[in-house]
Formats: sequence, C-alpha cells, structure tokens
Amino acid sequence: MNQKTQAYLILGLLVLLMVTVALDPRVPSYRSTYDPPATAREIAQWAEDIKAWPRSPSWQRFSAQPQADPLGAPDFSAAYVFGKYDYRVDVQIRGDRIQYISWGNDDQDNGGAWYAVGEGRQQRNGEWFSVWSCLDLSRAVSNGGGAWFKFSRDRKRIHVRYYHDTLPFGEAPIEIGEAVQVNLKPHEEMPRDRKSVIADSVWADRPLEGRIRTRTETLHATEGQNLVIWGRVVDDRGEGVDGAAVKRRAAGRIETVSDSRGFFKLELDKLEALTLITAGKLGYTNGIVTLEQQTAFSAIGPDFNRERVALATIELRPMERVDYPTYEWVSPQYLPPSRYDAAQHLNCGNCHRREFNDWKVSRHATMARNAWVRAAFERDARPFALSRGLETDGCTPCHSPSLAAKLEQFQLRGKTLLDAQGVDLEGNHCDFCHKIEAITVPEAPGMNGSIRLLRPNPHDDTVPGGVKRVFGPLPDVSFLYMGAGYNPLFQMGMLCAGCHEHHTDDGLVGQGTYSEWRRTKYAMPGSDYRECQSCHMPQYQAGKVRMLPGRDGIPVPTTSSGDLSGEEAKNNGVAIARFSTRYRPLNEAHKHSFVGSEDREFLKGAIDMQVSLEPLTDGVRVRVTLTNTGAGHAVPTGHGLKRYVLAVTGFADGKKLAPGNEFPAEERVGAADDATTGALIGRRFAGEAGPDWSLPWWRADSQESDNRLWPDQPREFVFELAGADAAEVKLILRRGSPALVQSHGLEPAGGTLPDVPVHERKVGP
Ligand code: HEC
Ligand code: HEC
Ligand code: HEC
Ligand code: HEC
Ligand code: HEC
Repeated sequence: MNQKTQAYLILGLLVLLMVTVALDPRVPSYRSTYDPPATAREIAQWAEDIKAWPRSPSWQRFSAQPQADPLGAPDFSAAYVFGKYDYRVDVQIRGDRIQYISWGNDDQDNGGAWYAVGEGRQQRNGEWFSVWSCLDLSRAVSNGGGAWFKFSRDRKRIHVRYYHDTLPFGEAPIEIGEAVQVNLKPHEEMPRDRKSVIADSVWADRPLEGRIRTRTETLHATEGQNLVIWGRVVDDRGEGVDGAAVKRRAAGRIETVSDSRGFFKLELDKLEALTLITAGKLGYTNGIVTLEQQTAFSAIGPDFNRERVALATIELRPMERVDYPTYEWVSPQYLPPSRYDAAQHLNCGNCHRREFNDWKVSRHATMARNAWVRAAFERDARPFALSRGLETDGCTPCHSPSLAAKLEQFQLRGKTLLDAQGVDLEGNHCDFCHKIEAITVPEAPGMNGSIRLLRPNPHDDTVPGGVKRVFGPLPDVSFLYMGAGYNPLFQMGMLCAGCHEHHTDDGLVGQGTYSEWRRTKYAMPGSDYRECQSCHMPQYQAGKVRMLPGRDGIPVPTTSSGDLSGEEAKNNGVAIARFSTRYRPLNEAHKHSFVGSEDREFLKGAIDMQVSLEPLTDGVRVRVTLTNTGAGHAVPTGHGLKRYVLAVTGFADGKKLAPGNEFPAEERVGAADDATTGALIGRRFAGEAGPDWSLPWWRADSQESDNRLWPDQPREFVFELAGADAAEVKLILRRGSPALVQSHGLEPAGGTLPDVPVHERKVGP
C-alpha cells in the first residue's frame, strides 16, 4: 500500500467515523456532566465518607454467605464497576428478581459519596427494570430513579440505561453507560491496585467513561387518536388487585382506580420520554413501573382501535399484617453528618427538613414534655383516680403515644407519661404518626383501643434502612428506604380522631373535636367540605414573583412571602424530601406545624367579633356578637379545659370602673385583670360539689353547660355597665381555668399561651 492509498484510507475511515457519529442518535445531545473534575482532596474525602458508612445497614442480602440468606442462595451474583470513578454495582439475581447495591463517589452538584440500593424484575423483552434509591452520604440526603439493565451474553458487561427522578423528565432524561464485571465477591473492597480485578482488555478501552443523555421527543396525541395506557395492578402472585389508586408520579391527584380484575386505563394527551405510573392500596407497599416512550407501544402495536395503546403492569407487595412492638422508633431529629455512623441510619429530619422544622414547633412535638400535662397527671388526675380505686392510666395513651406503643397495659402504678425518655419524649413524632394503619374505635383513648399501628419487623431486610415502612397520602412514593404504603386515612380527619376524640366509660365526652366536626357543614359533601388536614395542615404557598433590583441594579424576578425555596419556586413545585425526587405540585405537600391556638392570625380568622354600644339612662349596654367563621368544630374544642374569656371593661370619663361581681374574681388575671364584667365561653363540668368552671373532665360526673361557638351560629352576649360611657371588649383564649392551672403549680394566666387578646375593641366616645 503506498502512502497515497494509506492517506485515502485514513480519510475514508475518518469520514465513516463522522457519519457514524452523526447518525448515532445519542451523540448530538452528548454532554459530559463530569467536567470539571473534582479536586483530589475532595475525592479523597468522599472515599473516607464511604468508608465511615456501615453499608446499607439492614440490607444484608449481599452477605459473605449468600446461602445463609433467608431468601436462599441467589442464582447469580457478581460485582461490577461503572462510571468514571468506578462506582460499584453488586448484583444478585433470583429467578426473575434482581437486587443490587451500588456505592461510590461523584463530582456532580458539588460532589459527594453515595450509597444506593435497587430492586426490580426481568421484563418480557429480557431487560431488567428496577428502581434505585440513593443516600447521598456527604450531604445526608436522598435521591432516586430507575434503571434498565441489559446483560451481555456472558454477563461480563451490563448496558445500563438509567434516570434520576430529580428533574421534570422532558426530552432528555435517560442516560446510558456500561458496567463491567470485576473479579471481586459482592461487597468485597476494591483493592488499591484496581487493574488486578478488572480484566486487562476492559481496562485498556475504558468503556466506563462518561454518561450519555438520550433524546426522545415528546409525543402529542393528535385529533381522533388518543394516547392510552392500559395497565394492570397485580400482587406478588400475579393476581389482579382491585381498588388500587393509580396515578402518574407527581400528577397532583389520583388519576384512576383499578377495577375488580386489577385493570385500569389512563388517557394522556402527551407522552414524554418517560412515564412513571404508580399504584397503591392499603395493605400493600406502593408499586411503580416506568414506561419508556420508545418501547411503551410495542406491547400491543402502534394502532389499536385508533388508539395508541401501551401496557403497564404494576406489582404491589402485600405487607405483613403483624405489628412488631420490638421495632425501634426512628427519631425525627436532624442528625449532623458527624454522627451518622453511630446511629446507623438517617433520621426523618435529615431528608424531610421542612416537615421537621415545621413539626418541631408544633404541640405534637412538645406534648410529651408539656409541663402542665405532666403536673395535671402527677398532682391531680393520677392521685384522684387512685383514690377512687381506679388503676387504669387514661392519659398516657394520648399524651405520650410513642411510649404508650411499647406498653402492654396502661397502669397508673406502672410506666406512665412521666417515664418517657429518648425518642418517646418527642411526643407525636413523624415515625409514630406515619405508622398508624387504622383508627378502630375513635372514642377510645389513643393507643388504648383507638389507634392501630403496623410497625415493621425490625429484622426484615427486604427493605433497606431503619424506617422500613411509612403510611402516607401518596401512592407514588417508591423510595425503597421508606417502604411507603398508600393509606387514604392520611387525608381523613378520622386519623386525628385517634386522639382528638375520647369518651369516658361513663359516657362523658372528654374530647369531642372529631364528632363536633362531623356535625358541621365541613363534614358534608359540597363546597364547604374540609377535613381536619385542610385547615390544620394546609398546602404550601408559592409566594409572589416580583421584579426587584438585583446586585447591579437590574431588576430580576424575586419570589417573596411564599413557603418555597428559590429552587422550588423556579421549578414551580415542592420537594418533600431534600434533593429527592421531582418537584411535586403544591397540593402534594402539607405544612406540618399543625397550626392551632398559638397562631394569632389563625385564631383571628376563626372568630368574628362585632361590638355595639347603646346609651342607657345610667351607663351603657354593650352587645357583643361572636361568630365562629373559621373553625370546623365548636370553639373552643378539645378537653373542655380551654375557654374563651370575654372581658368587658367599662370606662367613665376615661377612668376604669371598679369590677362588679358577675364575673368570677379568679378569672380576673392577665389580660382580663381589669375586667368590670365578662363571660366565659366553654364547657362547664359538674362534680359532687356542683357545677364548677375549674373542674376538669377527669374529675367530673357530668357536663353542666356548653355555650361554645358553632360554625355560622352567632351568639350574642349583652352586658350593662352602670355609670359607664365607654367600654373595651377583649376576647382572650385561655388554656384552662386559672384556679386549676394554679393548683397544678403553674402560672394562672394560661400556661403557655401568650396572654394576648385575639380581638380587642373599644366603643364609646
Ligand atoms: C434518606 C432520606 C429519608 C429519610 C431518612 C426519611 N425519608 Fe421519608 N421520604 C424520602 C424520600 C426520598 C421520599 C419520597 C419523596 C418523593 O417521592 O417525592 C420520602 C417520602 C416519605 C413519605 C411519603 C409517603 C407516602 O406514600 O405518602 C412519608 C410519610 C415519609 N417519607 C416519612 C418519613 C418518616 C416518618 C421518616 C423517619 C422515620 C422518614 N420519612 C425518613 C426520604 C427519606
Ligand atoms: C397520638 C395522638 C394524636 C394524634 C393522632 C393527633 N393529635 Fe393533635 N394533638 C394531640 C395532643 C395530645 C395534643 C395536645 C398537645 C399539648 O398541648 O401538649 C394535640 C394538639 C394538636 C393541635 C394544637 C392544639 C392547640 O392547642 O393549638 C392541633 C391543631 C392538632 N393537634 C391537630 C391534629 C390533627 C389535624 C391531627 C390529624 C392529622 C392530629 N392532631 C392527630 C394528640 C394527637
Ligand atoms: C399527627 C400525625 C403526623 C405527624 C406527627 C407527622 N405527619 Fe407527616 N403527614 C401527616 C398527614 C395527615 C399527612 C397527609 C396530609 C394531607 O395529605 O392532607 C402527612 C404527609 C406527609 C408527607 C407527604 C407529603 C405531604 O406533606 O403531604 C411527608 C413526606 C411527611 N408527612 C413527613 C413527615 C415527617 C418527616 C414528620 C416529622 C417531622 C411528619 N410527617 C409528622 C401526619 C403526620
Ligand atoms: C374549617 C377549618 C377547620 C377544620 C375543618 C378543623 N379545624 Fe380545628 N381549628 C380551626 C380553627 C380556625 C381553630 C382555632 C379556633 C380557636 O379560635 O380557638 C381550630 C382549633 C383547633 C384545635 C385547638 C383547640 C382550640 O379550640 O383552640 C384543635 C386541637 C383542633 N382544631 C383540631 C381539629 C381536628 C382534630 C379537626 C378534625 C376533626 C379539626 N380541627 C377541623 C379550624 C379547623
Ligand atoms: C383521647 C386522647 C386524650 C386523652 C385520653 C387525654 N388527653 Fe389530654 N389532651 C388531648 C388532646 C388532643 C389535647 C389538646 C386538645 C386541645 O387543644 O384542647 C389535650 C390537652 C390536655 C391538656 C392541656 C394542655 C395544654 O397545655 O393546653 C391537659 C392538661 C391534658 N390534656 C391533660 C390530660 C390528662 C390529665 C389526661 C388523663 C386524665 C388526659 N389529658 C387524657 C388528648 C387526650
């Protein structure tokens, strides 16, 4: 071959290469996200982060002795490396099921070390589809997605297509790469000299470099031709599951429900590169399947009855219906990175920062430490019950639910709310509330007959991590560490009835919030319909976008007064776990501050107060009309400990009148200390000594009166003030009777409630 022919050949090869590159659909959108590389110091730090991590703490399937595995020895297992930094992917296959663990470090988005688990099954076309869930160890957050594996014939290589569920999918969500088998046992450390475990030939051509994004244009339905996805929800034995809630991920609502044989149909007007379809039903762990647009329609064929039809099968795994009291609660608290290896797993507050920050200021967070409740129990309720020969502790099952869940019986002489320690001091915490399966008898007290928990087997290592199971309102949560199961109870006031409804054995209503709500328009179908959650756990607000001057004076869109972070506002959605999954519409995220009587604005919106003044021959007549305009139950609700004080002070020539004697002297404290007269709004109980505003329900025989405010039923209070020419009216919410609170050793002016009137009005000259 002469030089000229050689040159032509080289030129020809080059042209061929360029044509290949141009034709390869992957190449035009090629973008290496690995640049610029991290510094050697960062990479070394991440390697340390990984070492400090005790592996996925309770997923032992990749143990050194796979034959000891409860599921039996796998049919196939091998270790692979993947990506620029040699991520490890250790795979195990049993029948048509695949599980893997994967760990490594990465320099995307500031970098970090991470640890992931994945599981799935083989599909009809021979590929393995799985979802993976990742813990970002350096930043203590979560991340998730899915992957298709296609093994080479000898299984020495895996062609991987994967996606992160972090972004809206659009047209380029899928990334591809290749993993190669290494000569290591699953879980075995990578030796320093990597080449000794990676076949030479592979090392030489390094197929692991980079990731490539594929592009798939969004398909739009055309006139007369719908995009239809037929699907079936099945259980682990392949039987159809009826009545399962079905939706696309983050769709903002449940889109359909499976029929008696498990089938469902979704009609869509467009199909992005990926469609994540999920299903959930109480009693099962949520299921998810991802349809790739390119292969979705191959199942039945492109045109079927003038519809384009795809087929999706979603498997739901039944939950074991046994409650394990030996399960250890996971703390809600945020755990700083320096402490996770000791704790073995992350706490709720690490990934759900906002829910945690909201919850921690709520009364659910402080209730096990509530000084008044402890004192009321220790100094009053317990000795009183014991003096009557009663032994059963009627307070702990609601006021210390986390501790109560571990007790077999509730004994006044046994462990009580005063003994709560550690995580039990966190009151009604995330893990407790989210493990409620059902409310069986709403009138029974909390953990003693009302709340049914379904705590997981702590040794079940088919679910990685320490949490293992949560119930929640979303059937589309597939994050493996959560073991989430859809439970419609979470959108129903019935959940709250577990503790916000209580009748004593004698039929006295201690706590009636739920049954009160049931009697209002808010519990009726129609435009007024509101569950407890709608008012006490509202969705997040987006805030307003305004143009404000930026750093160099040029106006930039700036979001203000909403609840969303900048990133969220930009993406027009909410992340319910840090760096987790794609942003969700606002209605899929709810404030966990359980807004209540500590929020002035909330209280102000609940009651309308109208005041008018009529001159009398000697003095004035003050008419006060109160209307419950915003609360979905009687006001005040609860135990009957809370009351509203309507304090009316008369003035003559600008000077306060001396107090009269219609208004009990002991109520004349705090903001009501100068009241001339007034009224109490609440429930008054009666005992042996007759009716008494300071008698708590636990010492009462009956309820003597109830003048509370019901929705839309105005109540008028009339006061005559002799000698007055003007009056001041204050509406004050009190946690309890000053006399009672004082008898428990606390400040009489209302315990922890700020002693500030909800409404205040002056009438007169
Ligand atoms: C490692 C991070 C991480 C930790 C720790 C964690 N979560 Fe989650 N959680 C997530 C992710 C990710 C999701 C899914 C987010 C999504 O799909 O948008 C989620 C979803 C949920 C959901 C919604 C489930 C549904 O189906 O409605 C609940 C409830 C929940 N978590 C509760 C908890 C509780 C309670 C704890 C502590 C006991 C906890 N999480 C700990 C990451 C975490
Ligand atoms: C495990 C029992 C339990 C469950 C379940 C429960 N709560 Fe509570 N809740 C309590 C207790 C106890 C308090 C009072 C805590 C305190 O003041 O120390 C409370 C307080 C509150 C308050 C604050 C009242 C105030 O004075 O401001 C609100 C609001 C509230 N709960 C709403 C709800 C809603 C809504 C639900 C259902 C989604 C719910 N709770 C479920 C036990 C529970
Ligand atoms: C009193 C019970 C209760 C407690 C305590 C509680 N939650 Fe929830 N959580 C709920 C309810 C009810 C919903 C559903 C609200 C809805 O859909 O209207 C919910 C929803 C969620 C969701 C799904 C997204 C959303 O907001 O709808 C996540 C995630 C979550 N909770 C995490 C947490 C974490 C983390 C904590 C502790 C910091 C916590 N929860 C404490 C009752 C509770
Ligand atoms: C229409 C909205 C709405 C609904 C529905 C609703 N609440 Fe309320 N809730 C309020 C408002 C407003 C207040 C403040 C009332 C006040 O002035 O004391 C309140 C007060 C409370 C309090 C504090 C006690 C008090 O009287 O201040 C508790 C506890 C409570 N609600 C629980 C519940 C529970 C449990 C449910 C469901 C059974 C529920 N709420 C349904 C709006 C609502
Ligand atoms: C069915 C569940 C339940 C039982 C049983 C129960 N409580 Fe409560 N308790 C609550 C709820 C819910 C609240 C808050 C509701 C409200 O705001 O009125 C509360 C509020 C209180 C408060 C007022 C706390 C404050 O700071 O405002 C005291 C004190 C109290 N309970 C004491 C007791 C005692 C003592 C017992 C036992 C004799 C008892 N409770 C039994 C659910 C219960």
